[in-house]
Amino acid sequence: MKDRVVLAYSGGLDTSIAIKWLEEKYDLSVVTVTVDVGQQEDLELIATRSRDIGALKHYSIDAKEEFAKSCIFPAIKANALYEGKYPLCTAIARPLIATKLVEIAKSEGAKAVAHGCTGKGNDQVRFDVTIRALNPKLKVIAPVREWNLSRDISLEYARKHGIPVGPKKSLYSIDQNLWGRSVESGPLEREDQEPPNDTLSWTVPIENVPRDPTYIELGFDGGTPKSIDGKNLDPVTLISRINKLAGQYGVGALDHIEDRVIGIKSREVYECPAAITIIEAHRELEKTVLTKHQLEFKQSVEREWTWLVYAGLWVDPLRIDLEAFIDSTQEPVEGVVKLKFHKGTMKVVGRSSPNSLYELPLATYDKTSTFDQSSALGFIELWSLQSRSAYSKRIKARKTQIYKPQLKQRSRSRRLANRNSGQRR
Ligand code: ARG
Repeated sequence: MKDRVVLAYSGGLDTSIAIKWLEEKYDLSVVTVTVDVGQQEDLELIATRSRDIGALKHYSIDAKEEFAKSCIFPAIKANALYEGKYPLCTAIARPLIATKLVEIAKSEGAKAVAHGCTGKGNDQVRFDVTIRALNPKLKVIAPVREWNLSRDISLEYARKHGIPVGPKKSLYSIDQNLWGRSVESGPLEREDQEPPNDTLSWTVPIENVPRDPTYIELGFDGGTPKSIDGKNLDPVTLISRINKLAGQYGVGALDHIEDRVIGIKSREVYECPAAITIIEAHRELEKTVLTKHQLEFKQSVEREWTWLVYAGLWVDPLRIDLEAFIDSTQEPVEGVVKLKFHKGTMKVVGRSSPNSLYELPLATYDKTSTFDQSSALGFIELWSLQSRSAYSKRIKARKTQIYKPQLKQRSRSRRLANRNSGQRR
């Protein structure tokens, strides 16, 4: 009997040819696994395709709820936006998929696990790191990386072996799940060109969004979303609804230049209507209930969490340590955030919480104010003590100015303009 390999199978070109390739080049029996993290693919069709190509067995695993609770919720609590923009939709799904592969490898007695990642991206790092940490005995095979397969070679191989290429011969490489849709390659590689409309499928182009605004009230409990307009929903339903609603208003389409772990800069288009909406709402609620000190410190923790996860180190204990801090801040993050969707925008227009630190009697400018304005004088005296002293001793004494005159930059900008107007490629 041949040894077995467990292949992460999406039904796309690369993983479809991998079935044959693993049999042919490595003499292995292939068990395929599709983990449903909300990619909205036809799972029956994927199963059939796997068997038609010649896999020994196929598993289809519904991990949507686990994905929402164990991967998306921590990302919401961490307000995770890599480089200020990318909500990690692909990044948070990979370790979970890898975990499922390792589990099935165990039950199938497989010696190896395989995935369709290239050697240029982040996903290989996320798969390999997780698999190797969970079971160091498993061999990891990545045919595209190992054999330096290009799209042309893969297509040729598919043709030769009668492997169906699938209905969508897309120009793009697309990965999607409940938290968003990542699109790269093809025309998007020209970073100076506007993304063509055919990159979008979850967000309506601004020209076609509804004319009138819509409002919703998003309820949070313990830092995670739990209701829309007062109605409690399970996480998968809630996130799907926000994806749909925000997408209809053209919210959540992102065009991003991103630094991959391996050093390459890449141009990515994302559609993450729910992620952008929920993180913004969550952050506003946090601003209402956490102290300035918590908020500021938390930002550095969020950045670290986001980077670790982006960079494929989900298994690192530091992530768990950071989450212990984050979780401890989330208990008061409870309440309702009012959101307005209008013509491609989403705005937080109101927030309320039983734990709010916003005190109207202190904040108000009308006569009901309870704030004693004279107390500000003593504060300013002490707050500025050192700064004033240093100013008079160092800056004023040396007659330096606190506003620097602007440097002349004309010749430099002209040089840059000339260079950019030259022919590309
Ligand atoms: N750059 C993103 C990341 O590393 C998305 C990768 C998406 N993969 C894809 N096949 N389009 O998380």
